[in-house]
Amino acid sequence: MKKCIYTLLLSSMLLCSCSTEHPVRTDTLLRQWEFTQDTAENPVWQAVTIPHDWAISGPFDRANDLQEVIVVQNGESEPTWKTGRSGGLPWMGKGHYHTRVKVNREKFYTLVFDGAMSHADVYVNGEEMVYWPYGYNTFDCYILPQLITGDSVDIDVYLENKPQQSRWYPGAGLYRNVHLIESHPIHVPTFGVLIRTPKVSKEFAQVTIDVELQNGVDELTDERVNELTNEGIRIQTDILYKGEVVATIEGQKGVAEVSKPQLWSPEAPRLYVARTRVMKETAIIDEVENRFGIRTLSYTPEHGFQLNGQTRKFKGVCNHHDLGPLGAAIHKDALRHQIAMLQDMGCDAIRTSHNMPAPELVELCDEMGMMMMIEPFDVWNWGKTENDYSKDFNDWWKWDVTNMVKHYRNNACVMMWSSGNEVWNQVLPDGIEIVSRLQDLFHQLDPTRPVTNGMDQAMHVIHNGFGAAVELPGFNYRTGRYIEGYENLPQKMILGSETASTVSSRGVYKRPAVLKDNAVYSDNQSSGYDVEYCPWSGLPEQDFQLQDDYNWTLGQFVWTGFDYLGEPSPYDTDAWPSHSSYFGIIDLASLPKDRYWLYRSQWNTKDATLHVLPHWNWNEGDLVPVFCYTTYPSAELFVNGKSYGKLRFATAAETERLANGEMIDGVSAMPKVADFEVPVWGSSPRPELLPRYRLMWFDVPYEAGEMTVVAYDAQGKEAARETVRTAGEPDHLDVIWANEKENPEELCYMTVRVVDKDGNLCPNADNLIEYTGDGFVAAANGDAACLDSFVQPQMHAFAGQCTFILKKGNKGQFHLTRK
Ligand code: GAL
Repeated sequence: MKKCIYTLLLSSMLLCSCSTEHPVRTDTLLRQWEFTQDTAENPVWQAVTIPHDWAISGPFDRANDLQEVIVVQNGESEPTWKTGRSGGLPWMGKGHYHTRVKVNREKFYTLVFDGAMSHADVYVNGEEMVYWPYGYNTFDCYILPQLITGDSVDIDVYLENKPQQSRWYPGAGLYRNVHLIESHPIHVPTFGVLIRTPKVSKEFAQVTIDVELQNGVDELTDERVNELTNEGIRIQTDILYKGEVVATIEGQKGVAEVSKPQLWSPEAPRLYVARTRVMKETAIIDEVENRFGIRTLSYTPEHGFQLNGQTRKFKGVCNHHDLGPLGAAIHKDALRHQIAMLQDMGCDAIRTSHNMPAPELVELCDEMGMMMMIEPFDVWNWGKTENDYSKDFNDWWKWDVTNMVKHYRNNACVMMWSSGNEVWNQVLPDGIEIVSRLQDLFHQLDPTRPVTNGMDQAMHVIHNGFGAAVELPGFNYRTGRYIEGYENLPQKMILGSETASTVSSRGVYKRPAVLKDNAVYSDNQSSGYDVEYCPWSGLPEQDFQLQDDYNWTLGQFVWTGFDYLGEPSPYDTDAWPSHSSYFGIIDLASLPKDRYWLYRSQWNTKDATLHVLPHWNWNEGDLVPVFCYTTYPSAELFVNGKSYGKLRFATAAETERLANGEMIDGVSAMPKVADFEVPVWGSSPRPELLPRYRLMWFDVPYEAGEMTVVAYDAQGKEAARETVRTAGEPDHLDVIWANEKENPEELCYMTVRVVDKDGNLCPNADNLIEYTGDGFVAAANGDAACLDSFVQPQMHAFAGQCTFILKKGNKGQFHLTRK
């Protein structure tokens, strides 16, 4: 392993440069690079704009990173061929980026890489500055002053992605931003300000500041800073709220009081700014701004998770880092769109599984009010794929945790850290030692937040000491073990660190609606009735029930908010062309699946939900299950005006009776379960729970026309209705601008719908839609088995819809053609 030469260890969120007339510090995004994947003597270079994911343009191929592995959770004991496991895209291999930047010998320069996939080796004017293997972390290096001999320097970044280094699509290249920071030689190093709020009351909050200072590449000791003070250097930090200074702290370390603090919460994401200036006499020589929030957190067995003294449960989702058709390349508007969709569903938290997030995501979560669990690792020193991070863990975990925590510990939205996901060490002799070491480091860097761990080996960790050693025990799935965990673990709290993993395809409905484990069909789709799961996973109701009925549960993070590239279970074993997930509540084209409204009906407590499925285009006489997800207490189903009865939700007590085989008048029947073997880890489906959260009419005879649900309020009065009509032949295309209200800066999401002459969505339409015009960026349709390129301006509709992502400013200047 090459040694890291100058590492970035100092973090928090650096926002800016400066408010003086001539900026004393600039943070320039290095956008323009040349790139080659060619290792030949005369490589072919192309100009690229960063963030850049070299693999997203494809082509898809079954042979890309074909993995022969045992997936224990699939119940396998022999290796099998996993196709599309890391997305079926050509992300493996070497890449080389080059750029040249202007420099000034009077200044000091730092390069900050928000993430580079992967094994990055950075050279300046031919000298190696830093090596950083983990593709998700932020790292930096200096442009050593002695390397500046002219007015520019050459920067070269060499990357290498090894086959079988990931269980999902990692992306490839400089997929996050690269910053060139120009500062005075005496400066606050990148991410060098630590802000804490140790006391918070209604009347006042204490804010403490700890600033690191550097002279060139030398980190300055306290003594040295004191000497500089004698030479006229001083540090001052102003605390600002909405642009007004509300407190000032003099010196490198200090404390101030902010009166009547405006607290941060998801409902009111209020942010303060700490503006730190380094002064020489009266001149400002460096200035950095860091945002932070004032809020309190606590996790106790008596009150569970409390934010600002109020108990709440996480209504969270896990997400991977890719942005569907945009690949891993970071786009702030895409992240903003994701958060806005999740918030409308009532979601208030994101787990960054299983790696460090892009800084833009954390910034947006701060601003938009989304809580976060930040998790760095999917493995420790025992791997899940041949070339994964386990190879680097022993040498790099300290550096990786340090950079990550320093980077994000000032951010108001971060509620906890996670030390890892389903690491094998849970059941290995060194597990307790490693988890303790990690937790110690997290706490040393940040004593203000707890550390969880996503454990899937519940039956072991409850009794082997590992679960007891994890500060905040997180269970991945294993709903059948929660009570055992609560009774045996000393913490007396359980977090659903990863839940559900229900599989479904948007708009594809398999009849009859039967609960099924690992169901596969010839069309490579899973049922939109949201009744299918994998051997290790379950249905949303199992988690709703645990969260609703036990005050020692802390909330949950559903796997996943959005579909992602790779891991196409249950079509992962030689089932090409499936290459993206079926787990998402929202599909790869950012279109909600029906499950979105099921979660919304439970989580969004502000807005009413009434949603009915499936579509209404069947064959005469078909028996069709109809499901309704709603916040109203009851609803009645009509087909062409004929009532099929009014249903209400079952109470908790009634679900017990349903489980005993009783039918209850006015309550949905319990759905059937396909033959199924309860796996050893003990999550079995609980069909009796569905009538508590869904209204379900099974076997409704289909007649063309319209299907309506009428929802009633608690007094039995009609409150809302929703109708689905039988669609005729495809007639034209409708367009919906999906992220318009979010004021995008660069990217617009356009949903294209194939509709009949009356505007009804044609639910089976799969026409090829062509886009002609400028500004095309990417397209997707949410079909995990579709091999259409994301980067060509055409896409097949899937279940009548697809999404085009366009550069802002292109509205109205294009044509869509249906073929
Ligand atoms: C979990 C794992 C996730 C993902 C998920 C699929 O066990 O932590 O990364 O693989 O299963 O259901």
